[in-house]
Amino acid sequence: MEETLHLKSADETLNLASSLIKYLPIPSIITLNGNLGAGKTIFAKGLAKGLNIKQDVTSPTFNILKCYFDGNVPFYHIDAYRLEDSQNKDIGLEEVIDGNGICVIEWPNYIKEIIFDDLNIDIQIISLNERVFTFKSENKKYEQVFTYLEGLKNVL
Ligand SMILES: Nc1ncnc2c1ncn2[C@@H]1O[C@H](COP(=O)(O)OP(=O)(O)OP(=O)(O)O)[C@@H](O)[C@H]1O
Ligand SMILES: [Mg+2]
Repeated sequence: MEETLHLKSADETLNLASSLIKYLPIPSIITLNGNLGAGKTIFAKGLAKGLNIKQDVTSPTFNILKCYFDGNVPFYHIDAYRLEDSQNKDIGLEEVIDGNGICVIEWPNYIKEIIFDDLNIDIQIISLNERVFTFKSENKKYEQVFTYLEGLKNVL
């Protein structure tokens, strides 16, 4: 399954991510690819908003993992950037990745050995405020997400 969306501002990205929550199964694994400043963390903030998380979701670069338990379901935010050159990636991330909530992962390529059945999102920077989001998954569990995205293309 594959869908592409053109989002023209950070707010559009926030709102889209927030609206996706309704269509995500538990557990869900969302991997985000895209250059520095593409909008991976903005997308994660939108998911958190959709889960009614009140805490501010900030980039977890210095923590690798941040957990939020004050929303509708547990929300795990991983930024694997610092694991690029790490030999020891066995730090227990598997438990939250395939856990009891929604897990979003920035820089997933650095830990791809431990990621399965994800919904992958690739973000391309078009201009200052424009991004092209490409959603892909081989897993049927995300089918509702794709049906929703397909419907949106007629209104955006
Ligand atoms: N359409 C858009 N969608 C998302 N972000 C946008 C958009 N237009 C502009 N932006 C801006 O781009 C920046 C994206 O920053 P963000 O921290 O989300 O990037 P990132 O991909 O997480 O980067 P990093 O790899 O450093 O973690 C924000 O300043 C945001 O306001
Ligand atoms: Mg980020």
